[in-house]
Amino acid sequence: MPFETIVLAHDGALSTLTINRPKALNALNAQVIRELDQALGEVRARKETRALIVTGGGEKAFVAGADIAEMAGLTKEQALAFAAEGQRVLASLEALKVPTIAAVNGFALGGGCELALACDFIIASEKAKLGLPEVSLAVIPGFGGTQRLTRLLGKAMAKQLIFTGDAIDAAKALQLGLVNEVVAPDALLARAAELGKKIATRGPIAVAQAKKAIEQGFDLSLEKGCELERHAFVDLFGTADQKEGMKAFLEKRAASFTGQ
Ligand code: CAA
Repeated sequence: MPFETIVLAHDGALSTLTINRPKALNALNAQVIRELDQALGEVRARKETRALIVTGGGEKAFVAGADIAEMAGLTKEQALAFAAEGQRVLASLEALKVPTIAAVNGFALGGGCELALACDFIIASEKAKLGLPEVSLAVIPGFGGTQRLTRLLGKAMAKQLIFTGDAIDAAKALQLGLVNEVVAPDALLARAAELGKKIATRGPIAVAQAKKAIEQGFDLSLEKGCELERHAFVDLFGTADQKEGMKAFLEKRAASFTGQ
């Protein structure tokens, strides 16, 4: 499906979704959110995809937030619908079975930071700036930022960042654990692709079950989380990939997985 604000490209097992509205620093207006939702549907339906990179078009921004011009005149009812839709679409990104990597190439502010937080992990360019500046507009994050940032960094650091609205640079984000790696700007997409392609060589059902165990287990007690892990572990036995993975090891050759 052709999009106006999204570019969705596929390279074998790796798909790349670029938010592409650079004149507005890729701000998330209703059209971007709608097209993001559709593009995620395409990724879900594409059997070959085993990892997804999310990035921003242009030189300056990953995504500079929800579109302030569109938000400025919202009524309470419209604001509720806007937040609910943004949260729903980011939840569907988070729920993709395949791993997702945010390649943050510049400003990731407000809804842009929330988009990156809905990915499994973030790789940042040295030029990246991340933050939740909503209180400077006298609102708060509405696409899951108060929840996902707090779960990732803990309450005190999330409060400092959200109450001040300060954006942090890539080095600080690395120190806090908000991003996993920082690379030179021109190496960003290559590094994200390298990670995506490596993940794509692993057992795809196993990677999906690992993601499920981490995501669903995170809010459970350790005991319940381990129970969930046990079931996910057992489900993998008897798959063709499990047989192939272990056989290939014993035969001292590389495994070839089919996702069965
Ligand atoms: N919404 C709408 N338009 C935006 C935008 C946004 N979030 N961010 C940038 N733009 C537009 C600017 O209005 C400008 O458009 P014009 O050329 O038509 O004037 C264009 O993008 C370029 O931006 P700047 O001229 O401002 O670029 P800069 O380099 O001087 O500054 C910036 C860059 C610091 C990122 C600055 O643009 C900025 O502060 N943007 C807003 C960041 C923000 O507050 N984000 C949070 C939004 S609220 C939110 O996201 C709520 C939620 O949780 C759902």
